[in-house]
Amino acid sequence: MLNLVLFGPPGAGKGTQSQKLIEKYGLIHLSTGDLLRGEISQGTALGLEAKKLMDEGLLVPDAVVIGMISNKLDANKDGKGFIFDGFPRTVAQAEALDALLESKKSAISGMIALEVNDDELERRLLLRGKDSGRPDDANPEVIRKRIHEYNSKTAPVADFYKGQNKFKSINGIGTVDEIFGAICGIIGAWKNK
Ligand code: AP5
Ligand code: MG
Repeated sequence: MLNLVLFGPPGAGKGTQSQKLIEKYGLIHLSTGDLLRGEISQGTALGLEAKKLMDEGLLVPDAVVIGMISNKLDANKDGKGFIFDGFPRTVAQAEALDALLESKKSAISGMIALEVNDDELERRLLLRGKDSGRPDDANPEVIRKRIHEYNSKTAPVADFYKGQNKFKSINGIGTVDEIFGAICGIIGAWKNK
């Protein structure tokens, strides 16, 4: 199994690259942001609670996203592997993911981080905010709050995977195809191990 964590700040290109990776490798895409937006559009209690935090650019509680991921792992037992996009976002989530996978006799293959500077992130998200309908893309203050949450709570997750010798980072600025090529180069090396 190939279990990849695609990592990076808001707007780094995790979702964009995930779409290409699922096509090439037949992986299942698990984006906690997409799952939460699904709950919001269905009007569930979980969605209503999450929406308040997401609209402010704040993380939702660990227990909520860990529960969603656990359900999805159980529902997709026989796949070729997973791309985790936007999860884990705290060290507690990373520890919980390791435990969940271990209970299924599986493990994370590695993390690939997309590096993009704050000015470019803000530019990309404001551009998308013009027509995406995502409230958290529309306001520069909320975008900066999301980047701040990333730097304070999420960036330490990279050290968690560095400690396991499972961390790689690449330049996330360039064309979508150039970045995809770099990611595939890393995955190819893992597969040949
Ligand atoms: P989530 O949905 O995960 O959003 P995010 O991480 O803030 O960032 P994006 O999805 O906006 O960025 P991305 O890296 O996927 O980039 P994309 O490919 O879209 O989370 C939303 C919220 O949900 C969080 O704030 C939090 O509240 C909550 N949440 C989610 N997961 C959680 C968790 N685990 N724990 C707690 N809370 C959680 O690209 C962005 C734009 O750039 C697009 O318009 C794209 O077309 C463009 N683009 C992509 N690549 C390039 C390129 N190479 N050059 C130029 N433009 C590019
Ligand atoms: Mg995304």
